Amino acid sequence: MERVLIFDTTLRDGEQSPGASLTSDEKLKIALQLEKLGVDIIEAGFPISSPDDAKAVRIIGENVKNCVVCALARCKDEDINSALKALETAQKPRLHLFLATSEIHRKYKLKKAKEEILKIAREKVRYAKKFIEDIEFSPEDASRTEPDFLLEVCKAVAEEGAKTINIPDTVGYAIPEEFGKLIKFLRENLPKEIIISVHCHNDLGLAVSNSLSAILNGARQVECTINGLGERAGNAALEEVVMNLVVRKDYYKVETNIKTEEIFKTSRLVSTLTGIPVQPNKAIVGANAFKHESGIHQDGILKHRLTYEIIDPKMIGIPKSELVLGKHSGRHALRERLKILGFEFEEDKFEKFFEKFKNLAEKKKEIHDVDLIALAEEEIISVNPVYTLEYFHIISGSSTIPSATVRLKKGNKIIEDASRGDGPVDALYKAIDRITKLSPILKEYKITAITGGKDAQGEVTVCIEIDGERVYGKGVSTDIIEASGKAYLNAINFYLLRSNIEKKKIKGT
Ligand code: KIV
Ligand code: ZN
Repeated sequence: MERVLIFDTTLRDGEQSPGASLTSDEKLKIALQLEKLGVDIIEAGFPISSPDDAKAVRIIGENVKNCVVCALARCKDEDINSALKALETAQKPRLHLFLATSEIHRKYKLKKAKEEILKIAREKVRYAKKFIEDIEFSPEDASRTEPDFLLEVCKAVAEEGAKTINIPDTVGYAIPEEFGKLIKFLRENLPKEIIISVHCHNDLGLAVSNSLSAILNGARQVECTINGLGERAGNAALEEVVMNLVVRKDYYKVETNIKTEEIFKTSRLVSTLTGIPVQPNKAIVGANAFKHESGIHQDGILKHRLTYEIIDPKMIGIPKSELVLGKHSGRHALRERLKILGFEFEEDKFEKFFEKFKNLAEKKKEIHDVDLIALAEEEIISVNPVYTLEYFHIISGSSTIPSATVRLKKGNKIIEDASRGDGPVDALYKAIDRITKLSPILKEYKITAITGGKDAQGEVTVCIEIDGERVYGKGVSTDIIEASGKAYLNAINFYLLRSNIEKKKIKGT
Protein backbone atom coordinates (compact mmCIF):
# COMPACT_ATOMS: atom_id res chain seq x y z
CA MET A 1 0.00 0.00 0.00
CA GLU A 2 1.26 3.49 -0.78
CA ARG A 3 2.26 5.73 2.09
CA VAL A 4 0.95 9.25 2.77
CA LEU A 5 3.40 11.41 4.68
CA ILE A 6 2.01 13.34 7.63
CA PHE A 7 3.47 16.83 7.93
CA ASP A 8 2.45 18.36 11.22
CA THR A 9 2.31 22.14 11.39
CA THR A 10 0.78 22.55 14.86
CA LEU A 11 3.91 24.37 15.99
CA ARG A 12 3.88 26.80 13.07
CA ASP A 13 0.45 27.33 11.45
CA GLY A 14 -1.33 25.94 14.55
CA GLU A 15 0.52 28.41 16.69
CA GLN A 16 -0.94 31.18 14.54
CA SER A 17 -4.34 30.50 16.18
CA PRO A 18 -5.32 33.60 18.13
CA GLY A 19 -4.12 33.18 21.72
CA ALA A 20 -2.17 30.01 21.02
CA SER A 21 1.44 31.15 20.99
CA LEU A 22 3.80 28.69 22.64
CA THR A 23 7.20 29.17 24.23
CA SER A 24 10.11 27.20 22.79
CA ASP A 25 10.06 24.82 25.80
CA GLU A 26 6.38 24.12 25.30
CA LYS A 27 7.02 23.54 21.61
CA LEU A 28 9.69 21.00 22.45
CA LYS A 29 7.27 19.08 24.70
CA ILE A 30 4.77 18.93 21.86
CA ALA A 31 7.43 18.00 19.29
CA LEU A 32 8.58 15.03 21.38
CA GLN A 33 4.99 13.85 21.60
CA LEU A 34 4.56 14.32 17.83
CA GLU A 35 7.61 12.11 17.37
CA LYS A 36 5.94 9.41 19.50
CA LEU A 37 2.78 9.86 17.45
CA GLY A 38 4.81 8.98 14.37
CA VAL A 39 4.47 12.11 12.23
CA ASP A 40 6.96 12.20 9.36
CA ILE A 41 7.71 15.92 9.32
CA ILE A 42 7.43 18.51 12.10
CA GLU A 43 7.21 22.13 11.00
CA ALA A 44 8.83 23.62 14.06
CA GLY A 45 8.55 27.34 13.34
CA PHE A 46 9.20 30.39 11.23
CA PRO A 47 12.65 31.46 12.47
CA ILE A 48 12.72 34.99 11.04
CA SER A 49 9.47 35.82 12.88
CA SER A 50 10.97 35.82 16.39
CA PRO A 51 14.07 34.72 18.31
CA ASP A 52 11.91 32.26 20.24
CA ASP A 53 10.70 30.65 17.00
CA ALA A 54 14.30 30.27 15.89
CA LYS A 55 15.17 28.78 19.29
CA ALA A 56 12.26 26.35 19.02
CA VAL A 57 13.48 25.09 15.63
CA ARG A 58 16.98 24.72 17.04
CA ILE A 59 16.04 22.79 20.18
CA ILE A 60 13.54 20.61 18.36
CA GLY A 61 16.27 19.83 15.81
CA GLU A 62 18.60 18.89 18.65
CA ASN A 63 16.14 16.60 20.41
CA VAL A 64 13.92 15.02 17.77
CA LYS A 65 15.65 12.16 15.99
CA ASN A 66 13.04 10.30 13.97
CA CYS A 67 11.24 13.07 12.13
CA VAL A 68 12.28 15.54 9.50
CA VAL A 69 12.42 18.97 11.18
CA CYS A 70 11.22 21.80 8.97
CA ALA A 71 11.47 25.59 9.15
CA LEU A 72 9.44 28.09 7.16
CA ALA A 73 10.85 31.01 5.15
CA ARG A 74 9.57 33.57 2.70
CA CYS A 75 11.44 33.83 -0.59
CA LYS A 76 13.89 36.33 0.90
CA ASP A 77 17.58 35.82 1.64
CA GLU A 78 17.27 36.94 5.26
CA ASP A 79 14.44 34.47 5.90
CA ILE A 80 16.31 31.64 4.22
CA ASN A 81 19.53 32.34 6.10
CA SER A 82 17.74 32.55 9.42
CA ALA A 83 15.86 29.28 8.78
CA LEU A 84 19.05 27.50 7.66
CA LYS A 85 20.84 28.66 10.78
CA ALA A 86 18.07 27.42 13.05
CA LEU A 87 18.06 24.08 11.21
CA GLU A 88 21.78 23.50 11.81
CA THR A 89 21.08 21.18 14.74
CA ALA A 90 18.57 18.97 12.91
CA GLN A 91 19.57 15.51 11.70
CA LYS A 92 17.00 15.63 8.92
CA PRO A 93 16.44 19.31 8.09
CA ARG A 94 13.90 20.65 5.59
CA LEU A 95 13.47 24.20 4.36
CA HIS A 96 9.92 25.26 3.47
CA LEU A 97 9.84 28.21 1.09
CA PHE A 98 6.65 30.00 0.17
CA LEU A 99 5.62 32.71 -2.26
CA ALA A 100 2.12 33.81 -3.22
CA THR A 101 1.06 33.07 -6.81
CA SER A 102 -2.64 34.00 -7.10
CA GLU A 103 -3.69 37.07 -9.04
CA ILE A 104 -5.17 38.74 -5.99
CA HIS A 105 -1.94 38.29 -3.99
CA ARG A 106 0.25 39.29 -6.94
CA LYS A 107 -1.72 42.44 -7.58
CA TYR A 108 -2.47 43.73 -4.09
CA LYS A 109 0.01 42.13 -1.69
CA LEU A 110 3.20 41.67 -3.68
CA LYS A 111 2.55 44.12 -6.52
CA LYS A 112 4.43 41.85 -8.87
CA ALA A 113 3.74 40.44 -12.31
CA LYS A 114 3.70 36.71 -13.09
CA GLU A 115 7.21 36.83 -14.61
CA GLU A 116 8.66 38.38 -11.44
CA ILE A 117 7.02 35.76 -9.24
CA LEU A 118 8.42 33.02 -11.43
CA LYS A 119 11.88 34.57 -11.32
CA ILE A 120 11.92 35.02 -7.53
CA ALA A 121 10.68 31.47 -6.93
CA ARG A 122 13.38 30.02 -9.19
CA GLU A 123 16.16 32.19 -7.78
CA LYS A 124 15.37 31.53 -4.14
CA VAL A 125 15.07 27.76 -4.53
CA ARG A 126 18.37 27.80 -6.47
CA TYR A 127 20.00 29.88 -3.73
CA ALA A 128 18.75 27.64 -0.90
CA LYS A 129 19.67 24.45 -2.78
CA LYS A 130 23.36 25.38 -2.37
CA PHE A 131 22.96 24.81 1.38
CA ILE A 132 20.22 22.25 1.89
CA GLU A 133 19.03 19.17 0.03
CA ASP A 134 15.46 18.84 1.25
CA ILE A 135 13.40 21.80 0.01
CA GLU A 136 9.63 22.15 0.00
CA PHE A 137 7.99 24.92 -1.99
CA SER A 138 4.50 26.35 -1.44
CA PRO A 139 2.82 28.60 -4.00
CA GLU A 140 0.70 30.45 -1.46
CA ASP A 141 -3.01 30.77 -2.32
CA ALA A 142 -2.51 28.02 -4.91
CA SER A 143 -6.19 27.10 -5.06
CA ARG A 144 -7.01 30.62 -6.34
CA THR A 145 -4.09 30.69 -8.80
CA GLU A 146 -4.64 30.20 -12.54
CA PRO A 147 -3.86 26.44 -12.97
CA ASP A 148 -1.51 26.97 -15.92
CA PHE A 149 0.54 29.57 -14.09
CA LEU A 150 0.52 27.38 -10.97
CA LEU A 151 1.94 24.51 -13.01
CA GLU A 152 4.57 26.79 -14.52
CA VAL A 153 5.76 27.86 -11.05
CA CYS A 154 5.71 24.26 -9.77
CA LYS A 155 7.73 23.04 -12.77
CA ALA A 156 10.25 25.84 -12.31
CA VAL A 157 10.89 25.14 -8.62
CA ALA A 158 11.06 21.40 -9.33
CA GLU A 159 13.77 22.08 -11.92
CA GLU A 160 15.69 24.08 -9.34
CA GLY A 161 15.61 21.18 -6.89
CA ALA A 162 12.48 21.44 -4.72
CA LYS A 163 11.52 17.87 -3.80
CA THR A 164 8.09 18.50 -2.33
CA ILE A 165 5.53 20.86 -3.81
CA ASN A 166 2.85 21.86 -1.38
CA ILE A 167 -0.47 23.15 -2.70
CA PRO A 168 -2.04 25.38 -0.07
CA ASP A 169 -5.70 26.27 0.03
CA THR A 170 -4.60 29.30 2.00
CA VAL A 171 -8.01 30.88 2.50
CA GLY A 172 -10.09 27.70 2.68
CA TYR A 173 -11.86 28.45 -0.62
CA ALA A 174 -11.54 25.11 -2.36
CA ILE A 175 -14.26 22.50 -2.88
CA PRO A 176 -13.28 18.80 -2.66
CA GLU A 177 -14.11 17.83 -6.25
CA GLU A 178 -12.49 20.91 -7.75
CA PHE A 179 -9.42 20.67 -5.50
CA GLY A 180 -9.07 16.99 -6.39
CA LYS A 181 -9.08 17.91 -10.10
CA LEU A 182 -6.35 20.50 -9.52
CA ILE A 183 -4.17 17.92 -7.76
CA LYS A 184 -4.79 15.42 -10.57
CA PHE A 185 -3.77 18.03 -13.16
CA LEU A 186 -0.54 18.78 -11.27
CA ARG A 187 0.18 15.08 -10.67
CA GLU A 188 -0.16 14.34 -14.38
CA ASN A 189 2.14 17.20 -15.37
CA LEU A 190 4.87 17.23 -12.73
CA PRO A 191 7.84 14.84 -12.62
CA LYS A 192 6.97 11.57 -10.85
CA GLU A 193 9.66 11.96 -8.19
CA ILE A 194 8.10 15.20 -6.91
CA ILE A 195 5.93 14.63 -3.85
CA ILE A 196 2.71 16.61 -4.05
CA SER A 197 1.56 17.86 -0.69
CA VAL A 198 -1.60 19.71 0.33
CA HIS A 199 -2.26 22.26 3.06
CA CYS A 200 -5.93 23.06 3.57
CA HIS A 201 -7.58 25.69 5.73
CA ASN A 202 -11.00 25.22 7.21
CA ASP A 203 -12.86 28.46 6.46
CA LEU A 204 -15.75 26.57 4.85
CA GLY A 205 -15.35 23.52 7.09
CA LEU A 206 -13.85 21.53 4.19
CA ALA A 207 -10.16 21.27 5.15
CA VAL A 208 -10.29 17.54 5.88
CA SER A 209 -12.53 16.75 2.88
CA ASN A 210 -10.26 18.70 0.54
CA SER A 211 -7.18 16.92 1.91
CA LEU A 212 -8.81 13.51 1.42
CA SER A 213 -9.90 14.40 -2.10
CA ALA A 214 -6.31 15.43 -2.84
CA ILE A 215 -5.05 12.05 -1.59
CA LEU A 216 -7.46 10.26 -3.91
CA ASN A 217 -5.96 12.29 -6.75
CA GLY A 218 -2.30 11.67 -6.05
CA ALA A 219 -1.20 13.86 -3.11
CA ARG A 220 1.21 11.90 -0.93
CA GLN A 221 1.83 14.41 1.85
CA VAL A 222 -0.82 16.11 3.98
CA GLU A 223 -0.14 19.14 6.14
CA CYS A 224 -2.30 19.23 9.22
CA THR A 225 -2.47 20.22 12.87
CA ILE A 226 -3.52 18.59 16.11
CA ASN A 227 -7.10 19.53 17.04
CA GLY A 228 -7.33 21.40 13.73
CA LEU A 229 -5.64 24.46 15.23
CA GLY A 230 -4.47 27.16 12.86
CA GLU A 231 -4.92 30.57 11.38
CA ARG A 232 -8.62 31.70 11.50
CA ALA A 233 -10.86 28.59 11.30
CA GLY A 234 -7.79 26.38 11.47
CA ASN A 235 -6.11 23.73 9.34
CA ALA A 236 -7.09 20.16 8.50
CA ALA A 237 -7.14 18.22 11.77
CA LEU A 238 -4.46 15.53 11.80
CA GLU A 239 -6.57 13.13 13.86
CA GLU A 240 -9.49 13.43 11.41
CA VAL A 241 -7.41 12.96 8.27
CA VAL A 242 -5.59 9.97 9.76
CA MET A 243 -8.66 8.25 11.19
CA ASN A 244 -10.45 8.62 7.85
CA LEU A 245 -7.54 6.84 6.20
CA VAL A 246 -7.54 4.14 8.89
CA VAL A 247 -11.28 3.52 9.21
CA ARG A 248 -11.87 3.70 5.44
CA LYS A 249 -8.66 2.01 4.34
CA ASP A 250 -10.85 -0.08 2.05
CA TYR A 251 -11.63 3.11 0.09
CA TYR A 252 -8.47 5.25 0.28
CA LYS A 253 -6.01 2.33 0.03
CA VAL A 254 -3.10 4.26 1.56
CA GLU A 255 -1.40 4.13 4.92
CA THR A 256 0.43 6.46 7.29
CA ASN A 257 3.04 5.98 9.98
CA ILE A 258 0.78 7.37 12.74
CA LYS A 259 0.47 5.36 15.97
CA THR A 260 -3.20 6.07 16.47
CA GLU A 261 -3.02 5.08 20.19
CA GLU A 262 -1.05 8.31 20.77
CA ILE A 263 -3.74 10.58 19.27
CA PHE A 264 -5.78 11.29 22.40
CA LYS A 265 -2.72 12.03 24.53
CA THR A 266 -1.32 14.38 21.87
CA SER A 267 -4.62 16.20 21.57
CA ARG A 268 -4.81 16.74 25.36
CA LEU A 269 -1.23 17.95 25.53
CA VAL A 270 -1.74 20.48 22.74
CA SER A 271 -4.99 21.71 24.26
CA THR A 272 -3.37 22.02 27.70
CA LEU A 273 -0.29 23.87 26.50
CA THR A 274 -2.03 26.20 24.06
CA GLY A 275 -4.90 26.75 26.51
CA ILE A 276 -7.37 26.22 23.65
CA PRO A 277 -10.10 23.78 24.64
CA VAL A 278 -11.29 21.07 22.27
CA GLN A 279 -14.97 21.54 21.40
CA PRO A 280 -16.98 18.69 22.99
CA ASN A 281 -18.49 17.46 19.71
CA LYS A 282 -15.18 17.57 17.82
CA ALA A 283 -14.69 14.43 15.70
CA ILE A 284 -12.26 11.83 17.14
CA VAL A 285 -10.98 13.77 20.18
CA GLY A 286 -14.00 15.70 21.51
CA ALA A 287 -15.31 14.73 24.95
CA ASN A 288 -18.58 13.52 23.39
CA ALA A 289 -17.03 11.67 20.44
CA PHE A 290 -17.66 8.27 22.08
CA LYS A 291 -20.63 9.07 24.31
CA HIS A 292 -23.97 7.52 23.48
CA GLU A 293 -26.88 9.43 24.92
CA SER A 294 -29.92 8.00 23.15
CA GLY A 295 -31.51 4.91 24.75
CA ILE A 296 -31.78 3.19 21.38
CA HIS A 297 -28.08 3.74 20.70
CA GLN A 298 -27.09 2.57 24.20
CA ASP A 299 -29.15 -0.56 23.74
CA GLY A 300 -27.51 -1.20 20.36
CA ILE A 301 -24.01 -0.70 21.77
CA LEU A 302 -24.72 -3.13 24.60
CA LYS A 303 -25.83 -5.74 22.07
CA HIS A 304 -22.91 -5.14 19.73
CA ARG A 305 -20.46 -2.24 19.86
CA LEU A 306 -20.28 -1.93 16.08
CA THR A 307 -23.99 -1.06 15.81
CA TYR A 308 -23.24 2.58 16.67
CA GLU A 309 -19.46 2.83 17.03
CA ILE A 310 -17.11 2.87 14.05
CA ILE A 311 -13.96 3.50 16.12
CA ASP A 312 -12.95 1.66 19.26
CA PRO A 313 -11.89 4.43 21.71
CA LYS A 314 -8.86 2.27 22.60
CA MET A 315 -7.61 2.80 19.04
CA ILE A 316 -6.93 6.46 19.71
CA GLY A 317 -5.58 5.79 23.19
CA ILE A 318 -8.56 6.41 25.43
CA PRO A 319 -8.03 4.04 28.38
CA LYS A 320 -10.98 1.72 28.70
CA SER A 321 -11.26 0.25 32.14
CA GLU A 322 -11.39 2.94 34.76
CA LEU A 323 -9.58 2.38 38.06
CA VAL A 324 -10.82 4.47 40.96
CA LEU A 325 -8.13 5.66 43.36
CA GLY A 326 -8.67 7.02 46.87
CA LYS A 327 -6.88 8.23 49.97
CA HIS A 328 -5.45 4.78 50.67
CA SER A 329 -3.88 4.46 47.24
CA GLY A 330 -0.11 4.51 47.29
CA ARG A 331 2.60 5.91 45.09
CA HIS A 332 2.85 2.76 42.98
CA ALA A 333 -0.86 2.69 42.08
CA LEU A 334 -0.83 6.40 41.29
CA ARG A 335 2.29 6.17 39.13
CA GLU A 336 0.91 3.21 37.19
CA ARG A 337 -2.44 4.90 36.57
CA LEU A 338 -0.76 8.12 35.46
CA LYS A 339 1.36 6.13 33.04
CA ILE A 340 -1.71 4.51 31.49
CA LEU A 341 -3.25 7.97 31.14
CA GLY A 342 -0.09 9.19 29.42
CA PHE A 343 1.62 11.25 32.15
CA GLU A 344 5.10 10.56 33.45
CA PHE A 345 6.71 12.83 36.04
CA GLU A 346 10.33 12.97 37.11
CA GLU A 347 10.93 11.81 40.70
CA ASP A 348 10.86 15.23 42.46
CA LYS A 349 7.84 16.38 40.46
CA PHE A 350 6.09 13.09 41.18
CA GLU A 351 6.47 13.61 44.96
CA LYS A 352 4.86 17.04 44.64
CA PHE A 353 2.12 15.53 42.55
CA PHE A 354 1.56 12.75 45.08
CA GLU A 355 1.01 15.39 47.78
CA LYS A 356 -1.57 17.16 45.60
CA PHE A 357 -3.26 13.83 44.97
CA LYS A 358 -3.44 13.11 48.72
CA ASN A 359 -4.90 16.58 49.39
CA LEU A 360 -7.56 15.95 46.81
CA ALA A 361 -8.26 12.49 48.22
CA GLU A 362 -8.91 14.10 51.62
CA LYS A 363 -11.68 16.20 50.05
CA LYS A 364 -12.99 13.68 47.57
CA LYS A 365 -13.58 10.01 48.28
CA GLU A 366 -13.14 8.64 44.80
CA ILE A 367 -10.50 9.87 42.39
CA HIS A 368 -11.44 9.01 38.81
CA ASP A 369 -9.31 9.16 35.64
CA VAL A 370 -10.79 12.55 34.72
CA ASP A 371 -9.75 13.91 38.15
CA LEU A 372 -6.21 12.65 37.63
CA ILE A 373 -6.05 14.05 34.10
CA ALA A 374 -7.23 17.46 35.35
CA LEU A 375 -4.69 17.41 38.19
CA ALA A 376 -1.85 16.33 35.90
CA GLU A 377 -2.70 18.97 33.31
CA GLU A 378 -2.75 21.61 36.00
CA GLU A 379 0.79 20.52 36.86
CA ILE A 380 1.92 20.78 33.23
CA ILE A 381 0.50 24.26 32.71
CA SER A 382 1.68 25.67 36.02
CA VAL A 383 5.34 25.59 34.93
CA ASN A 384 6.98 28.89 35.91
CA PRO A 385 3.85 30.86 36.82
CA VAL A 386 4.39 34.56 37.44
CA TYR A 387 1.61 34.68 40.07
CA THR A 388 0.25 31.90 42.27
CA LEU A 389 -2.81 32.00 44.48
CA GLU A 390 -1.72 31.78 48.13
CA TYR A 391 -4.92 32.60 49.95
CA PHE A 392 -8.38 34.01 49.39
CA HIS A 393 -11.33 34.86 51.57
CA ILE A 394 -14.78 35.59 50.20
CA ILE A 395 -17.80 37.19 51.83
CA SER A 396 -21.01 36.65 49.90
CA GLY A 397 -24.68 36.15 50.61
CA SER A 398 -28.15 37.32 49.69
CA SER A 399 -27.98 40.45 51.85
CA THR A 400 -24.27 41.39 51.62
CA ILE A 401 -22.18 43.07 48.97
CA PRO A 402 -19.78 40.36 47.83
CA SER A 403 -16.14 41.06 48.67
CA ALA A 404 -12.86 39.21 48.29
CA THR A 405 -9.47 39.39 49.96
CA VAL A 406 -6.69 37.82 47.91
CA ARG A 407 -3.05 37.04 48.53
CA LEU A 408 -0.84 36.28 45.53
CA LYS A 409 2.77 35.15 45.42
CA LYS A 410 5.07 36.73 42.84
CA GLY A 411 8.63 35.42 43.11
CA ASN A 412 9.36 35.68 46.84
CA LYS A 413 6.90 38.52 47.35
CA ILE A 414 3.44 38.12 48.86
CA ILE A 415 0.97 40.80 47.76
CA GLU A 416 -2.48 41.21 49.26
CA ASP A 417 -5.46 43.29 48.18
CA ALA A 418 -9.24 43.30 48.43
CA SER A 419 -12.21 44.36 46.36
CA ARG A 420 -15.97 44.30 46.16
CA GLY A 421 -17.82 42.96 43.16
CA ASP A 422 -21.17 42.01 41.67
CA GLY A 423 -20.69 38.46 42.86
CA PRO A 424 -17.98 36.40 44.59
CA VAL A 425 -16.10 35.59 41.36
CA ASP A 426 -16.28 39.20 40.18
CA ALA A 427 -14.93 40.40 43.56
CA LEU A 428 -12.12 37.83 43.39
CA TYR A 429 -11.16 38.87 39.86
CA LYS A 430 -11.23 42.57 40.73
CA ALA A 431 -8.94 41.95 43.73
CA ILE A 432 -6.54 40.02 41.46
CA ASP A 433 -6.61 42.89 38.94
CA ARG A 434 -5.64 45.34 41.68
CA ILE A 435 -2.56 43.24 42.42
CA THR A 436 -1.47 42.45 38.86
CA LYS A 437 -2.34 45.97 37.64
CA LEU A 438 -3.76 44.42 34.47
CA SER A 439 -7.30 44.99 33.33
CA PRO A 440 -8.33 41.85 31.47
CA ILE A 441 -11.77 41.72 29.87
CA LEU A 442 -13.47 38.45 30.74
CA LYS A 443 -14.72 37.13 27.41
CA GLU A 444 -15.77 33.63 28.43
CA TYR A 445 -16.31 31.84 31.71
CA LYS A 446 -17.34 28.20 31.83
CA ILE A 447 -17.70 25.87 34.78
CA THR A 448 -18.25 22.12 34.66
CA ALA A 449 -18.22 19.35 37.23
CA ILE A 450 -15.66 16.86 36.01
CA THR A 451 -17.32 13.88 37.69
CA GLY A 452 -20.71 13.30 39.26
CA GLY A 453 -21.37 13.62 43.00
CA LYS A 454 -21.50 16.56 45.41
CA ASP A 455 -17.77 16.28 46.06
CA ALA A 456 -16.95 16.60 42.33
CA GLN A 457 -14.13 18.87 41.26
CA GLY A 458 -15.20 21.97 39.37
CA GLU A 459 -13.24 22.83 36.24
CA VAL A 460 -13.32 26.46 35.21
CA THR A 461 -12.19 27.63 31.77
CA VAL A 462 -11.86 31.34 31.10
CA CYS A 463 -10.93 33.40 28.09
CA ILE A 464 -9.62 36.88 28.82
CA GLU A 465 -8.56 39.70 26.55
CA ILE A 466 -5.65 41.97 27.38
CA ASP A 467 -4.48 44.61 24.88
CA GLY A 468 -6.47 42.91 22.15
CA GLU A 469 -4.79 39.52 22.82
CA ARG A 470 -7.01 36.61 23.83
CA VAL A 471 -5.71 33.96 26.21
CA TYR A 472 -7.33 30.94 27.81
CA GLY A 473 -6.85 29.59 31.32
CA LYS A 474 -8.02 26.58 33.25
CA GLY A 475 -8.34 25.85 36.99
CA VAL A 476 -9.57 22.84 38.91
CA SER A 477 -10.61 22.49 42.53
CA THR A 478 -13.33 21.01 44.71
CA ASP A 479 -13.98 24.68 45.64
CA ILE A 480 -15.43 26.46 42.60
CA ILE A 481 -14.28 29.91 43.72
CA GLU A 482 -10.73 28.59 44.02
CA ALA A 483 -11.05 26.94 40.57
CA SER A 484 -12.25 30.31 39.19
CA GLY A 485 -9.27 32.13 40.73
CA LYS A 486 -6.80 29.54 39.43
CA ALA A 487 -8.25 29.71 35.89
CA TYR A 488 -8.04 33.50 35.84
CA LEU A 489 -4.47 33.51 37.12
CA ASN A 490 -3.51 30.75 34.70
CA ALA A 491 -4.68 32.92 31.80
CA ILE A 492 -2.82 35.95 33.21
CA ASN A 493 0.35 33.87 33.59
CA PHE A 494 0.03 32.65 29.99
CA TYR A 495 -0.35 36.23 28.85
CA LEU A 496 2.67 37.46 30.82
CA LEU A 497 4.91 34.59 29.72
CA ARG A 498 4.02 35.03 26.10
CA SER A 499 3.61 38.74 25.63
CA ASN A 500 7.32 39.28 25.09
CA ILE A 501 7.51 36.62 22.42
CA GLU A 502 4.36 37.84 20.72
CA LYS A 503 5.46 41.43 20.50
CA LYS A 504 8.45 40.47 18.42
CA LYS A 505 6.59 38.24 15.98
CA ILE A 506 5.81 38.85 12.34
CA LYS A 507 2.51 37.11 11.81
CA GLY A 508 3.35 37.11 8.16
CA THR A 509 1.83 34.01 6.58
O1 KIV B 1 -1.81 28.66 4.39
C1 KIV B 1 -0.74 28.82 3.78
O2 KIV B 1 -0.71 29.16 2.58
C2 KIV B 1 0.50 28.59 4.50
C3 KIV B 1 1.74 28.49 3.69
C4 KIV B 1 2.89 29.12 4.37
C5 KIV B 1 2.00 27.05 3.36
O3 KIV B 1 0.47 28.41 5.69
ZN1 ZN C 1 -1.58 27.82 6.34
